[in-house]
Amino acid sequence: MPYTLSERVVIITGAGSGIGRAAALTAAASGATVAVADISDSAHETVKLIEEAGGSAFALIGDIGNPERAQAMVDEAAAKGPLKGLANNAGIMDQFSGAAETPVDLWERVMRINAGGTFYMTRAAIPHMLAAGGGSIVNTASEAGIRGAAAGAAYTASKHAVVGLTRNTAYRYGREGIRCNAVCPGGVETNIMSSIDPTKIDQAAMAAIGPVHQSALGMASPQQQADLIVFLLADEASNVSGAIIPNDGGWFAG
Ligand SMILES: NC(=O)c1ccc[n+]([C@@H]2O[C@H](COP(=O)([O-])OP(=O)(O)OC[C@H]3O[C@@H](n4cnc5c(N)ncnc54)[C@H](O)[C@@H]3O)[C@@H](O)[C@H]2O)c1
Repeated sequence: MPYTLSERVVIITGAGSGIGRAAALTAAASGATVAVADISDSAHETVKLIEEAGGSAFALIGDIGNPERAQAMVDEAAAKGPLKGLANNAGIMDQFSGAAETPVDLWERVMRINAGGTFYMTRAAIPHMLAAGGGSIVNTASEAGIRGAAAGAAYTASKHAVVGLTRNTAYRYGREGIRCNAVCPGGVETNIMSSIDPTKIDQAAMAAIGPVHQSALGMASPQQQADLIVFLLADEASNVSGAIIPNDGGWFAG
């Protein structure tokens, strides 16, 4: 088994695609019963892939940006066994535009899903984790959670919010056995750009951020992100909490 995650339920959001699907497969191979959460029916395909590999999983279909649905998904997962892991990974992109060119509805949608969804799932999961004796929360932030020129205003603000929530949660609940960390991917080969209309990408903004918009090593694979996420979920990372970890091919170093 890659990591120690047996005898627990682990929720992974955005697990119908990309980084989340790779993390779900790795978590299941590490012994977890994986709650494959996604707004898309592609979650069922991930469950099938896990079961074909001999693992245990079930799908949770819903919008993490809806607080009632987030609560219901977490409660459903916790009813299947001790909830000791949550990877808040689902997210959407913006148009790379700065504040002046960002439509209000885009700002609200990106903040609701990326920041709000992470908060709604976290607040629902913590009581179950406390009842289970502890747990680990891993948030997929972004290079845009630690730099100003990796995306647009809305996405950057939403991922900085995820970083702040990570640190607060790590400190507030640490003595009660809950760890919380964030990973910050650079460019990863996934379907994330399908969450926006390519004709709406702000080319002037792209040109402005271009000089600092690159990693040293190039694009990463979803598996390269999944390995760090699942390590942080697992017992092997028992002393790691409150960490904001770039997994960006050296981008943050530049
Ligand atoms: N791909 C990159 O270059 C990159 C870089 C930095 C950070 N990230 C972050 O990685 C995370 C995963 O993205 P990915 O690259 O694997 O993209 P992806 O589009 O391949 O996967 C994202 C998944 O999230 C799901 N999702 C979207 N909105 C949802 C909602 N409201 N409720 C539930 N599920 C929802 C989608 O259906 C999709 O299956 C995101 O948080 C993203 O911001 C990605």
